[in-house]
Amino acid sequence: MQSTISFVLDDSIVTIDFEKDSILHPTTTVLNYLRNLPTHKGVKEGCAEGDCGACSVVLADVVDDRMRYRAVDSCLVFLPMIHGKQLITVENLKMNSGELHPVQQAMVDTDGSQCGFCTPGIIMAMFALYKTWINPTRAEIDDALTGNLCRCTGYRPIIEAAAKACVKNGMDHFTDNESRIVELLKSIPNESIQIKTARQRYYRPASLSTALELKSKFPDADVITGATDAALRVTKKHELLKEVIDLSGVTELNFLNETEDYITVGAGMSLKDMMPRIKDNFGALYSILEVFGSQQIRNFATLSGNLGTASPIGDTLPVLIAYSAVVVLESKRGKRDIPVERFITGYRETAKDDDELITAVIIPKPSADEIFKSYKISKRKDLDISTISSGFKLVLDDTNIVGSIVLAYGGMAERIRRASAVEEYLIGKEWSRNTIEEAMKFIDSDFNPISDVRGGAKMRRIAAKNLLLKFWFDTADQKIAV
Ligand SMILES: Cc1cc2nc3c(=O)[nH]c(=O)nc-3n(C[C@H](O)[C@H](O)[C@H](O)COP(=O)(O)OP(=O)(O)OC[C@H]3O[C@@H](n4cnc5c(N)ncnc54)[C@H](O)[C@@H]3O)c2cc1C
Ligand code: FES
Ligand code: FES
Repeated sequence: MQSTISFVLDDSIVTIDFEKDSILHPTTTVLNYLRNLPTHKGVKEGCAEGDCGACSVVLADVVDDRMRYRAVDSCLVFLPMIHGKQLITVENLKMNSGELHPVQQAMVDTDGSQCGFCTPGIIMAMFALYKTWINPTRAEIDDALTGNLCRCTGYRPIIEAAAKACVKNGMDHFTDNESRIVELLKSIPNESIQIKTARQRYYRPASLSTALELKSKFPDADVITGATDAALRVTKKHELLKEVIDLSGVTELNFLNETEDYITVGAGMSLKDMMPRIKDNFGALYSILEVFGSQQIRNFATLSGNLGTASPIGDTLPVLIAYSAVVVLESKRGKRDIPVERFITGYRETAKDDDELITAVIIPKPSADEIFKSYKISKRKDLDISTISSGFKLVLDDTNIVGSIVLAYGGMAERIRRASAVEEYLIGKEWSRNTIEEAMKFIDSDFNPISDVRGGAKMRRIAAKNLLLKFWFDTADQKIAV
């Protein structure tokens, strides 16, 4: 195993040896690394928790011999996670001619910046859009900018700038330099990394077998994949993660396989990469991912990480339960499958043994008679934590009678749970408004929610009932109406 990491910054390979460096440690974030350099202070820290986008940078990697550019929140990325990638900051955007980059010029032309604190992050999100989309739609622009807060300019001129800039086929000096960067990045070997400092052990295995070996040897080590949840322990709680196994370099886990009956999503596949692959067959999962964090979050976050948090408000968990998804757990001892519903055992507790890793999630494809819906209630539509999330499945027979039903809720209990009393009441009944209104009463026996900053217990009960009614409204016309 090697003990250094390498990446490209300012068109050259940078190598960091944490064992010799007195300032940097393996859980130093890319944001803090950049802020400590004399030449990259454009990147800003706003929230240090992925909510404001002021720290946005672009990470580029090689896919099929071409560079792929993605915006990320540098406050949530540990330095070893960028091994083998190109790190691009706002300082790198200026064109070789000395002119501003098209996205920068467009921001000037549309008066897209006032105080300017948010501007470098917005420019980087816009740059990723510029390199990915030609003539993006308004929805694509909005989605690209969801992760960036601007509190003074207002979004009209910023959106206008994005639309004005992204018309040039993504051409710029990065295009001219692309083949050189591809070669530079290819020269960085993707070997397993082991960093030992006085206070930390950080492992970034390059293969699944090494990852399983490490987890067996260090069962108490913190596992990270996208780190969009785990990094907050460092940035907000100021914890020292003493032993980390970082799965971001295990390319074997970055896959999505499809058969006639199901898909298998590898633990390393980002939500962003997953989305186009599930859009047609798994609409309810897709629509919850559309309101999952922001682009910057989805570019790194994974299903396995969402399951790993076992959070009572993990957005994908209710819908995975509705789909009867199964978690694949692997250790040196072997492999086992466990339904998501049984995988979550309590408040942030799972059925995973200490030496096991989540390696995949299997999701059966819906059959023609199954209807799935997902709903998220939060204080704002985008980039917000759920107050309540839900994943529902319904099968009606030819006479509009409920044959089977799954009603999984998040935010209503200490863990994601099914409304079993409601389900039991509904089985064998007509799928009608009268039945639903009766069924809604059983929410009170299924759940005893708490009050917190996101919503009171009473509000949660009412909202959970109304989601049932909405589910009925959204599905009633699919068989016999009312
Ligand atoms: C700004 C922001 C917005 C967010 N928005 C949402 C949202 O809308 N909805 C939502 O549900 N969540 C949201 N999250 C939380 C987080 O992004 C998700 O939970 C995400 O799915 C975590 O995936 P990850 O790969 O980044 O996990 P990580 O942070 O790497 O890990 C999370 C947990 O899972 C464990 N874990 C990860 N991978 C494995 C594995 N392969 N095997 C075993 N254990 C593993 C880790 O040990 C850790 O306990 C948000 C977070 C931020 C910072
Ligand atoms: S500092 Fe706010 S998202 Fe990183
Ligand atoms: S320009 Fe000031 S917050 Fe955006």
